[in-house]
Amino acid sequence: MKKVKTLVFDINPKRPQKSAINRAASIIRSAGLVAFPTETVYGLGADGLKSHAVKRIYEAKKRPADNPLILHVSSCQQAGEIASELPFAAKRLMKRFWPGPLTLILEKSDIVPSNVTCGLDTVALRMPKNAIALKLIEASGAPLAAPSANLSQSPSPTMAEHVLEDLDGRIEAVIDGGRTDFGIESTILDLCSDPPSILRPGSISLLRIKKEIGPVSQNTVCEPDAAPRSPGTKHLHYRPGAKVIWVDTRYHKKRIESLINPGNTAVLCTRKNTYRGAKSLYIGSRPETVAKNLYAAFRRMDALGKGLIIIEPFGKSPEWSAVRNRLSKAASRIISQ
Ligand code: TXA
Ligand code: MG
Repeated sequence: MKKVKTLVFDINPKRPQKSAINRAASIIRSAGLVAFPTETVYGLGADGLKSHAVKRIYEAKKRPADNPLILHVSSCQQAGEIASELPFAAKRLMKRFWPGPLTLILEKSDIVPSNVTCGLDTVALRMPKNAIALKLIEASGAPLAAPSANLSQSPSPTMAEHVLEDLDGRIEAVIDGGRTDFGIESTILDLCSDPPSILRPGSISLLRIKKEIGPVSQNTVCEPDAAPRSPGTKHLHYRPGAKVIWVDTRYHKKRIESLINPGNTAVLCTRKNTYRGAKSLYIGSRPETVAKNLYAAFRRMDALGKGLIIIEPFGKSPEWSAVRNRLSKAASRIISQ
């Protein structure tokens, strides 16, 4: 891959400066790649209607060619052009949750290039709740194809610095709009199955979706690759360089201590604990906080050269399902009893 100079645009997420947005949009219009913040994680954007621009996303990320992309829109009308039709349930969910962290899988229209969907006849759509993202989509004049802006398999970026760690020299620009709000990726809901099914849990919960549209199924979140309908679920994901051990039992300090390899270990704590011989980092006790801090903590521990990351136990209630899902993929060992 030819090395490029990656520009960094600092943009205020509350009041995005027009001139910087326009510069970023002109890169997109000329088939370049621009990473940008969303409310979940940073996305790596390209013009989603130009297949040669979309192709570059796969190259820059080293993404497997059978893992389709989400198209990001700035209006419901744009969603209507990308989906072959918007069923009632889609309209209802869009009205209730867009802009926001909910991706909908719908039948695709003919304007969508086949490398966006990897040949599927469905397409993933979402409207991000972030002023920079929305302005960039508008100024680009096209939906943006955007996977998370990390190298394939790595943890998703929640700050512009993370994007540069992985993609500096591989993409034309990154917009620095500060830390993302949620920290993990959107909920993916397949509206082409009957009943609709959650392919990837996120911060919009099963319960909230059910309240709007009735029955919805969700695979057990701790079985890796339990959702073969989402091609991405069969690939490795969210992995730091360090080996991750997730202790998913009742809390027992001695048990965790016995796993520590002194000097080489970090413990990501969900209680305010410290462990001798290990870097102890508190990542919060509630699902929202752990979600927000998890990937950044992975990257920080990699930067410190830790070879082992141990995750302290936390809850099993439905509010934890998105975090549990990500850890079930990031961990190479799960201790469950
Ligand atoms: O929050 C998010 O969703 C972030 C931000 C940037 O929007 N994006 C994101 O994209 O997480 P990515 O590419 O890392 O994950 C998208 C997932 C993949 O697992 C992919 O397999 C699935 O969406 N997907 C895309 N199109 C699909 C389709 N037509 N049917 C089923 N799954 C699909
Ligand atoms: Mg990703």
